[in-house]
Amino acid sequence: MPPSTRSRHRLRAQVVASVDAPDRLYPHLGQLFANMPTLGASPSLIMRRLRGLGIALPGRREPLRAIDLGCGPGGVAVALAKTLRMDVVGIDGCPAFIDSARELATAAGVSDRCAFVATSLEIFTRSRALHRDYDVALMLNVWPAMRAARATRAFVRIGGVYVIDDAVRDPACDDRAWRRVPTLEHVSERIAQLGDEVLDARVLARPAMAKVEAALQKQLAINARRLARREPALADTLREFVRGQQEAAGLLEGPLRGAMWIVQRGA
Ligand SMILES: C[S@@+](CC[C@H](N)C(=O)[O-])C[C@H]1O[C@@H](n2cnc3c(N)ncnc32)[C@H](O)[C@@H]1O
Repeated sequence: MPPSTRSRHRLRAQVVASVDAPDRLYPHLGQLFANMPTLGASPSLIMRRLRGLGIALPGRREPLRAIDLGCGPGGVAVALAKTLRMDVVGIDGCPAFIDSARELATAAGVSDRCAFVATSLEIFTRSRALHRDYDVALMLNVWPAMRAARATRAFVRIGGVYVIDDAVRDPACDDRAWRRVPTLEHVSERIAQLGDEVLDARVLARPAMAKVEAALQKQLAINARRLARREPALADTLREFVRGQQEAAGLLEGPLRGAMWIVQRGA
């Protein structure tokens, strides 16, 4: 059954909110984020950490099965397939990102190991039949950490691993305005209460984060200028959007830190 108009509107609102864009830019998200394999996640860091933990040992006969919830343009999913030889499913509510992810997989020569599906995460994560048989599940920069932890752990087998990414409060920040944002340790404690083992929890080093962010911001500014030339009526909206993105990135240099958890599912 096709999704109702209401749920399509809701999904569209969730997608634009997750990339901090106004609704007017929804039809242009593919162009706006062109040539950007990820929207914040660092595939090389994730591959290094998974390898370091022995989760994807080379020489395994059977490929591990992974699922990336909110995969965006597919950079992490394709890296899992190419670098760690996993069979990967990527789910995202933005059809333009799913198109980009498929193109990326084809260009990387791993389209046979990747399947990308355009659908709502709310609907997908409720479809119980699909749950629990993945070795690795990821949700990177989509839902707040604990919501992401609950959603991803439901997809992995006992002993499987889930990876989540979110911004946390820098413990050095005691500004009242940010007190409600949890610290890395707070999230780790709450994950442990789910009965799972946090194998790795880390705030991302500021120089490395700054490098990733600078590259994203540079490409975004190029794409926005290109789009503004094609759609002059959007010029002000695009300028405002780029400024907002830069401001958000600046928070990671101040009260917030990018963080990542790799967790082994218990019972
Ligand atoms: C900030 S981006 C992160 C993309 C990718 N995980 C990364 O880190 O590069 C958030 C992604 O979540 C997707 N998304 C947000 N809400 C969603 C929902 N309710 N259902 C499906 N996808 C959603 C957006 O389309 C977008 O691709």
